[in-house]
Amino acid sequence: MSLIRLDKYLADAGQGTRSEVKMKLKQGKVKLNDVTVKKPDIKINTQTDCVSVDGRKLSYQQFQYYMLNKPAGVVSATKDNRDKTVVELIDGDKRRDLFPVGRLDKDTEGLLIITNDGTLANNLLAPGKHVDKCYFAKIEGVVTEATVQQFKEGLDIGDDKLTAPATLIIEESGEESLVKVIITEGRYHQIKRMFEAVGMKVVYLKRLSMGELKLDLSLRLGEYRELTQQELMLLGKK
Ligand code: URA
Repeated sequence: MSLIRLDKYLADAGQGTRSEVKMKLKQGKVKLNDVTVKKPDIKINTQTDCVSVDGRKLSYQQFQYYMLNKPAGVVSATKDNRDKTVVELIDGDKRRDLFPVGRLDKDTEGLLIITNDGTLANNLLAPGKHVDKCYFAKIEGVVTEATVQQFKEGLDIGDDKLTAPATLIIEESGEESLVKVIITEGRYHQIKRMFEAVGMKVVYLKRLSMGELKLDLSLRLGEYRELTQQELMLLGKK
């Protein structure tokens, strides 16, 4: 059984900030099991209690999970003084506790999970978990089989340890090469630094998948949607 305060329940259910919620309570708009309630600290059983606002029954979801196709130019943070954040792109959700699972650089596009479930984030990001992350990249310079081998063996990118073995798949090689890279770690600027270590430059980067979860290619840049039950299962939830 899960008991939570009524004001938190209402905020979690998208009824506004804590102060907006307090106002609705004061105005007598909130009913608990058909009885008007005004106290924000009443405890609610999320499984059995029925809460309504203005006569509309609320459905409570403890956790939210979104897939965002991150555009370039927004930062992977919850707040930023200068730039728009990925959380601010989730405009259909009034919750205050959402955060991105891991970081993509400001100029990187693609798959980013936005949630308020810390356990999911830990499961995907903990160093011991070795979750595969697949990226598509455009590279300035000719990528060859020798580079593939170097990625496999591990690279010195200036950290204490070499990078873990990574898979590099060449799709087109030329003055500008197109590749896919699969890494199991999540070091700062990892893919850019790996290419730098072999004398090349990443000019475009997009994340395509994390573990079994693939970017929904029907999402345009900046668009998002909730994860489906099936996708949550792929991530070990449900
Ligand atoms: N590697 C990078 O260099 N940047 C990212 O955003 C993700 C992986």
